[in-house]
Amino acid sequence: MKHDGSLHKQGEVTPLQRVLLSRRSNRKFAPGEPSREQLSYIVACVDGFRAATKLEAPRIVIIERPEDHSAVIRAAMKGLVGKINPWLPFMKAKHLILCGALYPAADGHGAEKGGGSASPGQEETNDAGTEKLPLDSAGSRLGHEYRAGVERAVKEASMAMQVAVLAATEVGLATCWLAGINHERIEKAYQMPDGARLVAISPLGVPTRKKGLSWDSVTFHLISKRRMPLEKIWMREQWGGEKDDQ
Ligand SMILES: Cc1cc2nc3c(=O)[nH]c(=O)nc-3n(C[C@H](O)[C@H](O)[C@H](O)COP(=O)(O)O)c2cc1C
Repeated sequence: MKHDGSLHKQGEVTPLQRVLLSRRSNRKFAPGEPSREQLSYIVACVDGFRAATKLEAPRIVIIERPEDHSAVIRAAMKGLVGKINPWLPFMKAKHLILCGALYPAADGHGAEKGGGSASPGQEETNDAGTEKLPLDSAGSRLGHEYRAGVERAVKEASMAMQVAVLAATEVGLATCWLAGINHERIEKAYQMPDGARLVAISPLGVPTRKKGLSWDSVTFHLISKRRMPLEKIWMREQWGGEKDDQ
């Protein structure tokens, strides 16, 4: 394995491995917009993922309308949690990806619709955007199942979001997962499809070529360089099975 985490497989790195290794979080973007073809490719990849996996929870939305874009950014910055990403209003990406998850119904039957107001067994958020634990009546099995269902839905949605993020990288666009945002305010400012609950957002834009001191260079040195090598997390056929470089 090379120092950058890439894999030696008869001297080859697969296209997917290349995308995984080359993707970095971007908080600074060049002027300009993704093309129709680039956007369609991302949507097609997410649709393909959902069709192949038959996962029902993910709702991935690309925001294009300037009024929706500014409403989401404004809402994301509200409250204490909104202070996490002070660069957000100044980044030049004109598109956003929203990652939503369809939660299970609080009564354990089917998916929850409508989002928003909390009822017993449902998740609540406060104005700071931090999530409280679900309201679990008498610590019942239903409460436990509901929490497990929510966790599962969030994981499914996150997988679909990562497909969007990797597809964007593949077509030369830049992204940055953002969960340090005011989820509840965004849900009020922008109606997620089918009442899905917001998991995370990402700017989607043209990467800047400019180097120098920035949030990106700081996080690259502090976090990105400590990434776990791909060979440690890349399994063949099944988790825990043969590693790719063996
Ligand atoms: C679930 C999740 C949430 C994140 N939330 C934020 C965030 O709120 N603000 C931010 O600047 N970066 C956020 N990031 C990006 C990480 O900071 C980034 O992945 C890390 O700095 C490593 O950089 P790299 O992606 O370039 O390797 C988030 C990443 C993930 C996976």
